[in-house]
Amino acid sequence: MTYRVVLLPGDGIGPDVTAAAVKVLERAITGQGIEIKIESHLLGGCAIDETGTPFPEKTQEAVQTADAVILGAVGGPKWDVGPGHLRPEAGLLALRRLLGVYANIRPVKAFPELIDASPLRKEIAQAVDIVIVRELTGGAYFGKRERGRDEAGARFAYDTMYYSEEEIRRVLQTAFETARLRRKKLTSVDKANVLDSSRLWREIVQEMSAQYPDVTVEHLLVDACAMHLVTHPQVFDVLVTENLFGDILSDESAVLTGSIGMLPSASLGQGIGLYEPIHGSAPDIAGLGIANPLGAILSVALLLRYSLHLEAAALRVEQAVASAVRDGARTKDLARQGENVLTTEQMTERVLSYL
Ligand code: NAD
Ligand code: IPM
Ligand code: MN
Repeated sequence: MTYRVVLLPGDGIGPDVTAAAVKVLERAITGQGIEIKIESHLLGGCAIDETGTPFPEKTQEAVQTADAVILGAVGGPKWDVGPGHLRPEAGLLALRRLLGVYANIRPVKAFPELIDASPLRKEIAQAVDIVIVRELTGGAYFGKRERGRDEAGARFAYDTMYYSEEEIRRVLQTAFETARLRRKKLTSVDKANVLDSSRLWREIVQEMSAQYPDVTVEHLLVDACAMHLVTHPQVFDVLVTENLFGDILSDESAVLTGSIGMLPSASLGQGIGLYEPIHGSAPDIAGLGIANPLGAILSVALLLRYSLHLEAAALRVEQAVASAVRDGARTKDLARQGENVLTTEQMTERVLSYL
């Protein structure tokens, strides 16, 4: 069996962490009787530089026929000037939309050995084991109306948080099913005291909960949720929310584990899975070779699990990361004062040594 995986390294630290991810992927499938063909394409700032657009047609064609897509990160100060639709991030949103990956799964699990890297007290940080299910192709990121600025001489701007019933139902289904396979608790996060889109969201959660009597459902306002995530994160099992809230809450949750560089994600929907670490292109450390590759490497584990259905290989990658961390391997973002700091490549070698 041969699979085609499209690689979109992107900008900043993207190429470094995806190079690490590919090495681990290739090692993980050795002896599995399968072959993976990796094909690299342009997305983001690098694509703007080469072709004038963040999501060139050639990339669009390639991803639509792939078995899975691995993405590094896009964006950077160099491209923060152009009009909205010509920015690297617009290319990423168009990619998600084209693939129809409406459910973004972001597992947040503390590694016991990294507790010291978390700003939270040990007893709080060590119990963190959450899956965030973030709606990924709707809400204010896409809107119903065009977004806009400045008409008739006045300066203004608007973004519309639009959700249809269908968009809400399908991501909730993923969330309920995810909860069913875990500790059977689902926290739906919204701003139903203010937003109409949240009131519809809550209504649909209520309706669907009848089909999942084994899952305990709770509703939480997003501002309170932001607080609970740092005061008692251990109460959360599966957390489901709309696009923008999910973006913010997942960065917040990432620090519970020690570093944003640790968190992987899988974006699932109509078939082709998209796998990316949750962090960005980290312009402040780009080119230094010190980025933490573990979020990208753990994203490969999710690819093995969800797109290739190789659960054992996925677990081996996750265990190799855990072993490297247990062994004291630390990139700069994870290291305490006086601890030995590894480069991206050295960290990758440490993970490979356990595979
Ligand atoms: P960021 O995630 O790139 O960086 C935030 C901080 O975390 C920085 O200090 C950075 O050095 C650090 N960091 C992030 N990943 C790290 C890693 N793997 N190892 C070590 N440290 C890491 O967020 P930002 O600075 O707000 O955004 C920078 C650019 O990235 C922006 O253009 C933004 O739009 C883009 N971005 C892209 C994606 C994506 O492609 N999926 C995600 C988030 C942000
Ligand atoms: C993420 C990023 C993106 C998002 C940006 C770069 C469009 O922050 O993947 O979390 O907001 O979805
Ligand atoms: Mn984000």
